[in-house]
Amino acid sequence: MSIDKIAVLGAGTMGMGIAWAVAAAGKKVVLYDLTQEIVDKTLSRIGRGLEKAEERGQAPEGAKAFVTGNITGTANLEDIKDVDFIIETVLEKIEVKKDVYGKLSNILDDDIIVATNTSSLSITEIASAYKKPENVVGMHFFNPAMVMPLIEVIPCIQTAPEVVDTVMELSKAIGKKPIKVKEGPGFVVNRILVPGMNEAAFILHEGLATAEDIDNAMKMGAGWPMGPFTLCDMVGIDIALAVAETLYEETGDPKYRPAPNIKQHVRAGWLGRKTKRGWYDYSKK
Ligand code: 3HC
Repeated sequence: MSIDKIAVLGAGTMGMGIAWAVAAAGKKVVLYDLTQEIVDKTLSRIGRGLEKAEERGQAPEGAKAFVTGNITGTANLEDIKDVDFIIETVLEKIEVKKDVYGKLSNILDDDIIVATNTSSLSITEIASAYKKPENVVGMHFFNPAMVMPLIEVIPCIQTAPEVVDTVMELSKAIGKKPIKVKEGPGFVVNRILVPGMNEAAFILHEGLATAEDIDNAMKMGAGWPMGPFTLCDMVGIDIALAVAETLYEETGDPKYRPAPNIKQHVRAGWLGRKTKRGWYDYSKK
């Protein structure tokens, strides 16, 4: 079956970037979230982002019209009935995901593949909530998803091999660079990156250097494109904490324990750029 129309479920940070990336590759996208207001907000963010990208020469002239012309938004799950493929990136809470997969079980044809962008939950457990667990697979994008080339393709124990092949092919067709990874906490990138952000938080917690100096140190001393605190604010401190907790709980290894100041930020609702406050203050930007 050719995959021309894709539903992206969840219009948060990742949903926005994924919808943009997929639409930029010429696929039709249906972007779904719980309310029309959330969906519309994300659609305007995509429009504004493309405007800026065109101005900066990061996207070709006409990109805004092309990409936004390929995306429709909806708050009605029934509207995704006729798509060829699903990318699910709803809230990183297992109960929420299971509820969505239960609903999808009633709506979708049996041959539709559902790919989850989860970064911290068990794909095996998510798949168990779907009527055809063999059609569920991990498809992990990186933030900002319209820019970062990598996709980790992660089969869980139930995933059918041909489903993995289809997702590898689709990833290439949308201009991304997929790698296959077995299911394990953090997969590849987050297993390395999140402990790095966590360690930066410990260094700050111990008072060894300021957040700005740690960020500059990693940019100037290690060639990171952005420092660990700036990156954590972009990814979402709640997401970094969820991955850190998964690494810690799944392995039982104390080296992965989340830094106390990461937990404090999440408890305060200071989640990064999306809440205008994280390690840095974005309220005036
Ligand atoms: N199209 C559209 N927008 C683009 C663009 C493109 N081709 N290239 C850059 N941009 C955007 C940037 O996102 C940025 O957006 P903003 O205004 O909202 O901040 C803006 O243009 C200006 O950015 P820069 O001039 O700094 O752009 P650069 O191209 O130099 O780099 C970057 C931006 C690609 C984000 C780079 O800093 C980078 O690679 N950072 C590291 C990102 C990273 O590590 N991501 C992985 C996070 S982990 C993850 O996502 C997994 C999850 O499970 C936790």
